Amino acid sequence: SQTIRVGLAGVGTVGAGVLKILETNGDLIAARCGRRIAVTAVSARDRTKDRGIDLSGVAWEDDPRALAVRDDVDVVVEVMGGANGAALETVEAALGAGKDVVTANKALIATHGTRLATLAEDRGLALAFEAAVAGGIPVIKALKEGLAANRIDRVYGILNGTCNYILSDMETSGRAFELVLREAQALGYAEADPTFDVGGIDTAHKLAILAAVAFGMPVNFDAVHVEGIEQVSAEDIAFARELGYRIKLLGMARRRGDGVDQRVHPCMVPLGAPIADVDGVENAVVTEGDAVGRTILVGRGAGEGPTASAVVADLVDIARGLRLPVFGQPVGTLSDVAPIDIAER
Ligand code: NDP
Ligand code: HSE
Repeated sequence: SQTIRVGLAGVGTVGAGVLKILETNGDLIAARCGRRIAVTAVSARDRTKDRGIDLSGVAWEDDPRALAVRDDVDVVVEVMGGANGAALETVEAALGAGKDVVTANKALIATHGTRLATLAEDRGLALAFEAAVAGGIPVIKALKEGLAANRIDRVYGILNGTCNYILSDMETSGRAFELVLREAQALGYAEADPTFDVGGIDTAHKLAILAAVAFGMPVNFDAVHVEGIEQVSAEDIAFARELGYRIKLLGMARRRGDGVDQRVHPCMVPLGAPIADVDGVENAVVTEGDAVGRTILVGRGAGEGPTASAVVADLVDIARGLRLPVFGQPVGTLSDVAPIDIAER
């Protein structure tokens, strides 16, 4: 029972959470996997920053790509962020060096996921990204495993904790949008560039990944119609409420004929619908499968603990020797579906 040795690229909100979970729950995780999971090396930009965590005994690399070629690293966890640059180069270097990869980076997977999946599967490696979609909700595992018997016809939900936090707060407190956004940033929910959250782009990244796994198609972020919540006012929310609705930013993908329609925009959700009461940083993912019918998963969609929970769950899979196809079926079998043109929606 050899220890799984992790190189952690990024020691911010999510990276720190991973270190804390492995410290706090190390024994029970080891019991579940039959081996320990230990971070042996880390990388971040600023070596001098006080991160409130003990990094003694852990090697430091100024360049995250160097984690990929260390002899004491079996798995690289990429939690730096960004679709390109250091994140992409680190993941490519890790896969190229024969290391399994876990990432929370939805921008990266939505942009390069299909190509990176090919790299991983050609080498028999894991490329796991449970944390990239809906934070702590195990929706990727649900689609790849628990729902694997179904033809999925629709998947939709609240996929951005920052927006749901803002919309919920606007309804109850009447505080200014900017103030609540700053609070979400301070809580570690928002992206480095929060326009990705409020502009709907982060939801679109997640939706494109969900659709790929649900419908067995290559990730097609460019086909997602995207509108954010910048134009939603407190008055809109109050009027919707009067009419018996709540306003939620939803990501929605559904089969239509030979195509798949992927959309992100604010929606009026009727009071009483299961996702209408999902508030604050919580996310919800609804799937409709031909055999199972509707399933709904609800839980925290952002923040240190929930996101790190999903990252560590991927590490547990790797420690157990589980290496499922990256998108639920071998990448070579993903079949292109026509994106539905916006005019036809
Ligand atoms: P943070 O900004 O808190 O942390 C990013 C970390 O990466 C920091 O430690 C930073 O170093 C390091 N870093 C950034 N660029 C480089 C680089 N070029 N070289 C070395 N280190 C680098 O981000 P989060 O932890 O919030 O997010 C990380 C990833 O997880 C992103 O992809 C995000 O989208 C995703 N994610 C985040 C969630 C959340 O709730 N926060 C939820 C789900 C996914 P330094 O500390 O020195 O600045
Ligand atoms: N910024 C993202 C959100 C982080 O608010 O949902 C989780 O992916």
